[in-house]
Amino acid sequence: MPDSEFPATEWWQTGVIYQIYPRSFQDTNGDGIGDLPGITSRLDYLVSLGIDAIWISPFYPSPMADFGYDVSDYTNVDPLFGTLADFDALLAAAHNRGLRVILDFVPNHTSDQHPWFLQSKSSRDQRANPKRNWYLWHDAAQPGDDWQPAKNRYPNNWMSQFGGHAWEWDQPTEQFYLHSFLKEQPDLNWRNPQVRAAIYMAMRFWLDRGVDGFRMDVLWLLIKDEFFRNNPPNPQDLASTLPVFTADQPETHKIVAEMRSVLDSYGDRVLIGEIYLPLPELVRYYGQSDDSTPNPQSPTPKTPQLRGANLPFNFHLIQSQWYAEAIAHIIRTYESLLPAGAWPNYVLGNHDQSRLATRIGPQQARAAAMLLLTLRGTPTLYYGDELGMQDIPIAPDQVRDPAEKNEPGKGKGRDPERSPMLWLDTPNAGFTSAEVTPWLPLQHDWQTENATAQSTRPRSILTLYRKLLQLRRQHDTLHSGGIADVAAEGNILRFRRVALPNGHSTDFQLLFNLGNDIATTQCAPGTVVLTTILDGEGSHVDGAITIEAGEGLLIALDSNEGILE
Ligand code: GLC
Repeated sequence: MPDSEFPATEWWQTGVIYQIYPRSFQDTNGDGIGDLPGITSRLDYLVSLGIDAIWISPFYPSPMADFGYDVSDYTNVDPLFGTLADFDALLAAAHNRGLRVILDFVPNHTSDQHPWFLQSKSSRDQRANPKRNWYLWHDAAQPGDDWQPAKNRYPNNWMSQFGGHAWEWDQPTEQFYLHSFLKEQPDLNWRNPQVRAAIYMAMRFWLDRGVDGFRMDVLWLLIKDEFFRNNPPNPQDLASTLPVFTADQPETHKIVAEMRSVLDSYGDRVLIGEIYLPLPELVRYYGQSDDSTPNPQSPTPKTPQLRGANLPFNFHLIQSQWYAEAIAHIIRTYESLLPAGAWPNYVLGNHDQSRLATRIGPQQARAAAMLLLTLRGTPTLYYGDELGMQDIPIAPDQVRDPAEKNEPGKGKGRDPERSPMLWLDTPNAGFTSAEVTPWLPLQHDWQTENATAQSTRPRSILTLYRKLLQLRRQHDTLHSGGIADVAAEGNILRFRRVALPNGHSTDFQLLFNLGNDIATTQCAPGTVVLTTILDGEGSHVDGAITIEAGEGLLIALDSNEGILE
């Protein structure tokens, strides 16, 4: 098994990542929008929670058409969030506390206000305008019998992820440009080596300042078919198409390897990719091995160095039905597909997905917390999930997300999962000052479900997260060991975490009841270390064991079966 051969050694393997959506974390300047000094002021909370690294969603200068995912300057801070000095202070304060800082980098597209795009659209003459070819420009399609005007003759059938055609007509230069998202987010031309060099330089700007890595936005969409071929219809839904020519193009892997080389030249930094693909395609983003031939003299095999993303984000648990068999299947399939030397990872929530506690309910969210933090691989938490935060209702006049504004009522809006972090029981939950209206409404039960109140409750979900994070840090089996016997028995999901071969680690049995009824199963002799209900710890089990609906159990086994030799 690859997991036994190559145990974790890097911080991004043993650690836990926490995503901060900066607009919603902590406001310090009283504008109702979170900022970088706000994050700095909350670092002690994150340390006490027990995470190892923060990933901060974009804070670069931006017209905020997509709340910062439309970057107009890759090497600065938007005044809304603070200054470069604020960023440096945040980085230093995080590093002083042993926390790593991962930036969100948006390489697929810029803002339409980025100077590169302003120049690109200034003229179609490529000799006079060296940046024309930095974006994807295309002539209108040939006129058909109906003699549509050029602006209606889209070059092909590619659609924007936010609805409508992915092409915008530029009247002055009489061509279309491609935008996979909003028309305010034109796609860069990644086939152009100058674009690649410019982006790598921007990455270096932040790496030179000391950031610990990047989460690369929509990594699997970077390259598009060079012949701009039409996507084929989706047989399951004829109103849509399959992204055959707009996603996961073979040339993307070369780009990922180039990005990785930039990071590797700085030492222990991490490259994370946002990638929504089926598992067999996803694991290819770990990249090719550097082909280190095994040395027969060496007693331990050298971990093959893969040349792609360190952590291609695995979103399959988010997308899965909450059934034991479905989840067991994902874990087993993923583990079996990982190339040698690849380190797994799991994500249960982010700023684009309905909140975990809303998707599966508050009780199962506790089991999910234990699952995420006991699986083999790096977990990524979404801010507020440790409080069990839920999607908030958004009235039509409160809509902020362009994905909702573009296609109202289609359920694409992401405002519900971006509501402000709940800190205190004072007005505005301590997110911003009392007299200010936060940019999105607060969750209704902020007075009892904020971090301060939950810290004092011995059975709150926050207490559960803290205990889980502490145990994960304490036991090398949990952060670095193997995984075995992943199985579903009715509503029960089970697996074993397998000790490292160092003689002083423990095997753990994990049991989860993902159903709505109490269930019984069998367990080898061991001691209950933690239950998600936060009772019954310390009791000895041997044989039949009863598990409440939505309960998870972490059991230290009396003897190690030791699949790791
Ligand atoms: C990614 C981001 C999402 C953003 C999109 C366009 O999917 O996670 O929030 O809207 O890219 O940049």
